[in-house]
Amino acid sequence: MAAKKASIKTAEVPGPKSVELGKLKEKYISKAIGLSAPVYVEKAEGSLFHDIDGNVLIDMGSGIGVTNVGHCPKEVVKAVQKQAEKFLHLCFMVTPYENYVRLCEKLANVAPHPGLVKSVLYNSGAEAVENSVKISRHYTKKPAAFSFVHAFHGRTFLAMALTSKEMPYKAGFGPLPDSYKVEFAYCYRCPFNLEYPSCGVACADKIDEVWSSPQLQGKVACLIGEPIAGEGGFIVPPKEFYAKITKICKKHGVLYVDDEIQTGAGRTGKMWAIQHWPGVEPDILVSGKGIGGGFPVSATTGRPDVMDAPQIGGLGGTFGGNPVACAAALAQFEIIEKAMKNVPKINAYITKRLKEMQSRYPIIGDIRGMGAMMALELVSDRKTKAPAAKEAKATKMAALKKGMVLLTCGTLDNVIRLHPSMVMPQELLEQAMDILEESLGEAVKAQ
Ligand SMILES: Cc1ncc(COP(=O)(O)O)c(C=O)c1O
Repeated sequence: MAAKKASIKTAEVPGPKSVELGKLKEKYISKAIGLSAPVYVEKAEGSLFHDIDGNVLIDMGSGIGVTNVGHCPKEVVKAVQKQAEKFLHLCFMVTPYENYVRLCEKLANVAPHPGLVKSVLYNSGAEAVENSVKISRHYTKKPAAFSFVHAFHGRTFLAMALTSKEMPYKAGFGPLPDSYKVEFAYCYRCPFNLEYPSCGVACADKIDEVWSSPQLQGKVACLIGEPIAGEGGFIVPPKEFYAKITKICKKHGVLYVDDEIQTGAGRTGKMWAIQHWPGVEPDILVSGKGIGGGFPVSATTGRPDVMDAPQIGGLGGTFGGNPVACAAALAQFEIIEKAMKNVPKINAYITKRLKEMQSRYPIIGDIRGMGAMMALELVSDRKTKAPAAKEAKATKMAALKKGMVLLTCGTLDNVIRLHPSMVMPQELLEQAMDILEESLGEAVKAQ
């Protein structure tokens, strides 16, 4: 019978078999590949992992926001098996196949506004991000790409340049391609020392000022933003922020690129997080992670005039839109609507538990997020907001020992993020929040 809850069998976590494999990892894999939870997984189902030592663990990370509809949903597995029996690879640019076309059709049908019609498919989020800038430059004939402070857009050169955090993502890898940053609406730590709502979302107006400078006038191709800054700490901007931003983009002839790689595919309770703010119409949307249901596929989706700007052969790639990945993505889209219905319930329960914890633990400075994407920012003093990064890491390690894989994030490394699948059953969610509370309590005591 399938496991319903986490259970730890070994005296230590990771258990002995994981420790042995860890030694091989040390020998054969670059040290640059860090592991959040060094338990080697044998099998995953729904919202649970079974490790090679017989432990069952709750997955609160979803492979960094990928398995939104859970591990191995039968519909996705079946679609993959069916496609794998037909062909594994052709390269769409050589001999096309139907499911690439069908996935692009689907992306148009679920787009946040009807103008986003045409897509190109790739393998990773970073690749989709890079191509969104290539397309923006080609269309606008302008050079500059902007992103936000606290942004994360990937690890390839341009995506890394657009990313904000130096350690570990950028340090030592330069020189990087040119790109520019503007402040994000991080209200808990407002970069302008203002308070929302009396600030009037002045951070957005700053961008207008920056682009109006003689050096930048007529030079900006695009601004890329995450609706919720993911790796940056699950930072949710005020509801007016993106409406203002896209208006300013229009004024300056700058394309707005909506990076929904982490926030998309239903995670926030809508297909795309930008849909929480009516009237925000991106020119390009980049998706990845969850759209593949566990398979690597990503996309840039945009207005036809924008997407058709580059010359034939200017976009593409050998594996982009691999047929098995397209089959998985199409099957995932079939079940996502149902899974999304569960998100408000998940959000309400997590929010309730986090608020209770905040009343007991002064270390919880801020609670924020949307849908099945919630976080706690830890501070050692609520007044100074000094980041409590050590405690965030200690909470993550304590949770692992109790049977839960938890991730941290944040520019200051002091945010615990909760990334459950959208199909996590209530009973498991309760166990997950119990483990979180116990782990946090232990981490606080230990410091
Ligand atoms: C918002 C955002 N953009 C881009 C990326 C890069 O995606 P990938 O790791 O698939 O290249 C990520 C990955 O975490 C992300 O969260």
